[in-house]
Amino acid sequence: MKDLYEKFAYDYDEFGSIENYLGSERSFFQQLFTEYNVETVLDCACGTGQHLYMLSELGYRVHGSDFSASMLSVASKNLEKCGKNIPLRQCDFRYLGQAFAEQFDAVICLTTSLPHLHTDEDLVTALQSMKDRLRTNGLLVLTQGTTPYTLSLPPIEVVVNREDFSRIFVKEHDNQFQTIHVLDLYHSKVRLESSQYDIVYKIILDDDYRRLLSEAGFGNIQIYGDYDRSPYCEESCRLIVVAQGQKK
Ligand SMILES: C[S@@+](CC[C@H](N)C(=O)[O-])C[C@H]1O[C@@H](n2cnc3c(N)ncnc32)[C@H](O)[C@@H]1O
Repeated sequence: MKDLYEKFAYDYDEFGSIENYLGSERSFFQQLFTEYNVETVLDCACGTGQHLYMLSELGYRVHGSDFSASMLSVASKNLEKCGKNIPLRQCDFRYLGQAFAEQFDAVICLTTSLPHLHTDEDLVTALQSMKDRLRTNGLLVLTQGTTPYTLSLPPIEVVVNREDFSRIFVKEHDNQFQTIHVLDLYHSKVRLESSQYDIVYKIILDDDYRRLLSEAGFGNIQIYGDYDRSPYCEESCRLIVVAQGQKK
């Protein structure tokens, strides 16, 4: 599998530093994890470490993994800078058992990470691998920004707009896949440079999640439309899945 983030990782945090770019997610996780008695968490697509940092600040014992060595290297530097000593391992989330023997109270896979897999077979393999890393009735949380509403928005979006830097998403999709062309433009005297990264997501919506999660052995499947846990609907800007791994 190709690492789409090999170079992108080093500029990824132009979205914002890991301490600063989470708002409403904090209380969502705090409430949910309190309800389900979560103490230990595996973030299996941890990227540059933003959720690891946030959850560690909230007092959870966290582990991180990611397929991308570059993302992990950035995460490691970010977390060290924040004074956090969090174990990180390189691992494809389809095969978490190769890197982790332990089980967790929760496994999280956030910000449209699972849709990097493009077949139902791979998706079920990944969900089963996540379930195997959960204690009985442990919690899986998946989040994504792909919904019927966001797919209907204009295809060009300026996501970062600074004097020295702009990040622009140019999006296209068909019935099955969405491609996001990320255009990074550095336009200051010290850095004049552009890069393009193309990320292809499988479009996975609520009914797909219910089917795939049931096949992988999850129950109590809840789907929310935002971090306030409002019900998911066609107009939602987010799709948030919470499910419990059932007894083996
Ligand atoms: C859009 S980024 C999200 C990162 C992070 N969760 C966040 O919220 O910023 C997607 C992440 O998924 C990771 N990823 C994609 N496919 C993966 C796989 N098969 N196994 C593990 N990580 C994967 C990428 O390397 C990348 O770090």
